[in-house]
Amino acid sequence: MTVVLAIETSCDETAAAVVEDGRVVRSSVVSSQIDLHARFGGVVPEVAGRAHLESLTAVVDEALEQAGTTGAGIDAVGVTIGPGLIGSLLVGVAAAKAYSLAWEVPFVGVNHLEGHLHAAFLEDPDLALPAVVLLVSGGHTMLIHMQRDGTYRLLGQTIDDAAGEAFDKVARYLGLGYPGGPVIDRLAADGDPHAIAFPRGLRGAGLDFSFSGLKTSVVTWVRKHPDAPVADVAASFQEAVVDILVEKTRQAAAAVGAKAIAIGGGVAANSSLRARIQAAAEDDGRGAFIPSRAMCTDNAAMVGATAWYRLRADGPTPLTAAADPNLRLAVIAGG
Ligand code: KG4
Ligand code: ZN
Repeated sequence: MTVVLAIETSCDETAAAVVEDGRVVRSSVVSSQIDLHARFGGVVPEVAGRAHLESLTAVVDEALEQAGTTGAGIDAVGVTIGPGLIGSLLVGVAAAKAYSLAWEVPFVGVNHLEGHLHAAFLEDPDLALPAVVLLVSGGHTMLIHMQRDGTYRLLGQTIDDAAGEAFDKVARYLGLGYPGGPVIDRLAADGDPHAIAFPRGLRGAGLDFSFSGLKTSVVTWVRKHPDAPVADVAASFQEAVVDILVEKTRQAAAAVGAKAIAIGGGVAANSSLRARIQAAAEDDGRGAFIPSRAMCTDNAAMVGATAWYRLRADGPTPLTAAADPNLRLAVIAGG
């Protein structure tokens, strides 16, 4: 049995988890900084770094306590090493190295995106491969072909804004606060998704995505119709994003003959996207894996699962490894 203490501080959640053999989550603690950043309308990197520094030790202690263990029961320390905000990553990476040295256990640097990919497996170990994973967060929008041998192939990605970024920017324009995704999701439930015909970016044009035109057209439309019900704008905007995400995921799954479709990243918490992906997979006779909302947004359990996997596959990461804000997923590129 290998017990991993995992740490995640790449953006605005300070998180720690204790995960056994990459599968059993013994504890997962997430301390959100949303309240700190909300008044600025977005994550302020300087504020995020300081907040991680202030709360990380307590969050780690809490994760150990909830798991009923101490440093003596930990066999490896895993941490998100990139991509993310450099000042935030540094806090988690420095702490993880310190724990690893103090407890004399291996240190494992984890790619945050690979963490999101593993989140699906953490809750459904029997997820059939090959699978297509739609990874949609505040910073990324990618379609990934997950193969049986643990390799990833990038099938498509956004050429401009990430899906979550579009939610956040539109919400900010509509004066709905930060983060935008959950608010728009809630408002959309009371609106008409067909009220306004917003554009579907790159429809029918391969597996890449584009959301910046959609964002601009929401702004232009609202300027012309200042009295339109905001619930209709939210619902119609969300429909445009979800339509294109579902369409391309389906197309990707058909192209590679995927046995299953999985979703991950913060936007995978979206109610409409969850329902529509589930329905599409059923229609196409594929398995679907829709992780719990807590597993979609940033957490350390997914980092712990990935660390265990990486430790077995590649061994420990040298302590000289540095946090990398632009770390890429080790994918085999190509269509
Ligand atoms: O994965 P995540 O927690 O952090 C990043 O790695 O980016 O994703 C955060 C993003 C934000 O853009 C947020 O607005 C979006 O996920 N999000 C949602 C929902 N919940 C969070 N977007 C749409 N609907 C939601 N329910
Ligand atoms: Zn994330």
